[in-house]
Amino acid sequence: EKADLKASILEVNKTAAKYFYVQLKSERGKQAYTYLKNRELSDETITAFGLGYSNKYSDDLYKYLRQKGYSEDLIRQAGLINTDEKQGVYDKFWNRVIFPIMDVNSRVIGFGGRVMGDAKPKYLNSPETAVFDKSRNLYGLNRARTSKKPYFLLCEGYMDVISLHQAGFTNAVASLGTALTPGHASLIKRYVKEVYLTYDSDEAGTRAALRAVPILRDAGITAKVVRMDPYKDPDEFIKNLGAEEYEKRIGQARNGFMFTLETLEKNYDMNSPEGKTAFLREAAGRLAEFEDELERDNYTEAVASAYRVSVDSLKKLVVKMAVSAG
Ligand code: UTP
Ligand code: MN
Ligand code: MN
Ligand code: MN
Ligand code: MN
Repeated sequence: EKADLKASILEVNKTAAKYFYVQLKSERGKQAYTYLKNRELSDETITAFGLGYSNKYSDDLYKYLRQKGYSEDLIRQAGLINTDEKQGVYDKFWNRVIFPIMDVNSRVIGFGGRVMGDAKPKYLNSPETAVFDKSRNLYGLNRARTSKKPYFLLCEGYMDVISLHQAGFTNAVASLGTALTPGHASLIKRYVKEVYLTYDSDEAGTRAALRAVPILRDAGITAKVVRMDPYKDPDEFIKNLGAEEYEKRIGQARNGFMFTLETLEKNYDMNSPEGKTAFLREAAGRLAEFEDELERDNYTEAVASAYRVSVDSLKKLVVKMAVSAG
């Protein structure tokens, strides 16, 4: 029963994705196509990611799918329509550029839709359905899985993944605005043991990177953090500075733990002995969380050297913190 529902949702999603794609290439989709061209996407990229367009008519997709024989109930369970007392049944995606979200086997599990102007919300996404678990899927993984690189580039958005792939970084994936979960981390672990976080350079992106580092570490994945400033995100970075400069930033990526400390440091007055001591206590608390003793020692030495304190006293502090944390 449940397997039947899943298979049916995948089928209706696939039909919808094809419809959106055909619309993009039609007269009606001209504005959306131009939008994507202005964002410097090639036709190859548009096809590779199956990008599409949802029409301006409020029940256009619904009517098409009904006429193809899909039931209203199924279309609803796929998250493609909503019902309103006044309007009746209407399409979830209306006059938006469509990004089909695929699972690792390239099956369409949901959609994202972007407005072409500045309206809010900028993106609408399918709700979670029987086939779409947001905490267990990564955008772009169906393509990144065959990349030869031993690491993934983990970014925030649809356009980041697409731009990176177009620029030759075919190991890019995104958790699509939702925070990275242990489910994402264990999915990543099936393919690579190292991740370069290439989130947006704003405060939200920095916070997201800080939260992602321990989640990845708990899954046995090493995290490094790539700086995108002075640009907002990988898409803008690549557009302005190109792939070679991006490659350089990968080379300059900071270790996730040291990045965490550098960010924490900003909460303390490092020029005063009290401030620096308080900071080192917090750093020691975090060092104490390393379960692998060798790793803990190596990081303790790195921190001692970076912040110019004696390794011995920092090690003692770490042991004390570990004991008091139980
Ligand atoms: P951003 O706001 O950074 O957008 O959100 P972006 O990806 O850079 O978008 P462009 O370049 O303006 O097109 C990052 C991701 O967060 C999710 C989307 O997955 C988006 O790609 N998001 C963002 C939403 O789901 N809804 C929103 O309204 C905004
Ligand atoms: Mn979930
Ligand atoms: Mn952002
Ligand atoms: Mn962004
Ligand atoms: Mn962007």
